[in-house]
This record gives sequence, structure tokens and C-alpha cells, in this order.
Amino acid sequence: MTRRVRKAVFPVAGLGTRLLPATKSVPKEMLTIVDRPLIQYAIDEAREAGIEQMIFVTGRGKSSLDDYFDIAFELETTMSGKGKSLDPLAPSRSGFGEIVSVRQQQPLGLGHAVWCARDIVGDEPFAVLLPDELMLGRPNCLAQMVEAYEKVGGNVVAALEVPASETHKYGVIEPGSTDGRLTEIRAMVEKPPQGTAPSNLMLPGRYILQPEVMGQLDSQETGAGGEIQLTDAMARLIGKQPFNAFLFDGQRHDCGSASGFVIANIALALERDDVAPKVRDYLGGL
Ligand code: UTP
Repeated sequence: MTRRVRKAVFPVAGLGTRLLPATKSVPKEMLTIVDRPLIQYAIDEAREAGIEQMIFVTGRGKSSLDDYFDIAFELETTMSGKGKSLDPLAPSRSGFGEIVSVRQQQPLGLGHAVWCARDIVGDEPFAVLLPDELMLGRPNCLAQMVEAYEKVGGNVVAALEVPASETHKYGVIEPGSTDGRLTEIRAMVEKPPQGTAPSNLMLPGRYILQPEVMGQLDSQETGAGGEIQLTDAMARLIGKQPFNAFLFDGQRHDCGSASGFVIANIALALERDDVAPKVRDYLGGL
């Protein structure tokens, strides 16, 4: 019997230095892909996958994330008064108690950010979504993973193939036997030096984890880049708990980089009936 995944952690306390100067005063997660901020896509993905409680791990300068999901009283009253539809605001309205925030006072790494949510997660399995990784698929990435998790239990993390020349930028797994889209994980390493990666399967930022990973993070041990790495804490659980990689069937856009961000905007603009014709015309003319 697997325990249902009800909670998801969204680590959003990173500094977003690759997108400076924009991220000097705008959180990376509030940058828009077409007309929705990145965080909206991640929340939609979690909602569709059946998640009931969203936990933001925020930092200084990130309060617009909480405001975005609140009721915008003035805006709504003014719009209603003018007879304008409030429909565009619908996805940004959170249910009462749906979103909880906790601060990571210092950006000490992804593992540390997840650990900051330990008391809110409690003793149950949880998902982690990195909102700057935009994952497009039908069903969506987390929904595909939840379906797989319900069959095998344990820990299920999304994995994607990247060229061998890029593995040094990511968490990378050593794969074992494969069954459909699931591959057993034998080991994992964060940002392996070039030429040393155990495979070209990287972790793009979607995880379903058992609560024991929080105990591993208690040690606050630092790893690659001097940061407290989630990959290291997960690696220490391999052999003690089932650990599978899920080969996601869909597209990934790394919106934390300028090129990935622009490509994601084009890709999603081309899927929108109201936006695509002009964008297609423009691109065709280039
Ligand atoms: P990144 O590696 O993309 O780091 O973090 P970053 O700071 O956001 O961006 P760059 O590299 O400086 O451009 C991956 C995820 O982990 C979160 C980030 O917010 C992002 O969702 N994170 C990272 C934290 O919440 N806290 C941290 O200390 C580090």
C-alpha cells in the first residue's frame, strides 16, 4: 500500500542569478511565459496531479508570490464595477489554506530549502517541484509520476536524457534495470565533473519523496558548489528505500536560463489560438 501524495514543496528561494538583472527585484518564478508567471504553471501541474497543499519555501523579495495567489480586492472590485470578466484571475485564486509559506533565511542550497519545509510536510510522502523547470506533457509530468508511484511506492524522481557534454550541470543517476518508464536508481551524484557522470540521465526537478529524506538533510552536509544538496540526501537513502527514476514523456524547458526562457515563451505562444497566428507570422518572416 502506498500513501497518497497530498503535499508539494516549491523551493523558490534561489537568487536566480542567471536571469539578472530581471531577477534583482522580480522573483524568477514571477517572470511570465506568455501571460502566466512560471509559478502558475507549477501550481497547475500540482493541482492536476491531485496535490492538496502547496508549500512555498521563499526568501526575501519573494512576497509577490504569496500576493499573486491571494484575493486582489481592489483589482477585482474595480474590474467588476466596469463589467469586466474576472475569469482570467481564476487560476491565481488559491483555496483557503491551500498555500503555506515558510522562509529559507539564507539560500544554502536546494536540499536546505526542502528541509525548511520539514515540519509542514510531517511524516508523509511529498512532491517537490522546481518551478523554473517547465515540464509540458499530457498528462503532466507530476501526474505521470504519481501514477507510477501508486504502483511502486518509495521514491520516484523524474529523469531526462541530456547530451553527455551537459551532465556536469545537473544531478545525474546511475541507472539499473528498467521496467517501462521506470528505471531503478543505483546511485546519484550532483554536478559530476565533466567526463565522470554515471549516465546521461539528469534530474530535471520533479520528485516524489518519502519523509525520511528530511532526516538525511538534518546533517546539513554541504556538497557540490558548497550547497546543501537534495541529491546527496537522496543518494544516502538508496538501498534503504526503493528509488526509481521516471522517464518523463514530454518536453522540458529550463526557464532559469535566458535561452530556455525565450524558447518556452515561443513554444507556449504557438499553442495558444489567440496568440499563435501573429507569432507564427513573425517567426516565418525571420
Ligand atoms: P537553481 O540552481 O536554479 O538556483 O535552483 P537559482 O538561485 O534559482 O538560480 P541561478 O542558478 O542563480 O540562476 C534550483 C531551484 O532551487 C531553489 C530555486 O529557487 C530553484 O527553484 N533554491 C535553490 C532554493 O529555494 N534555495 C536555495 O538555496 C537554492
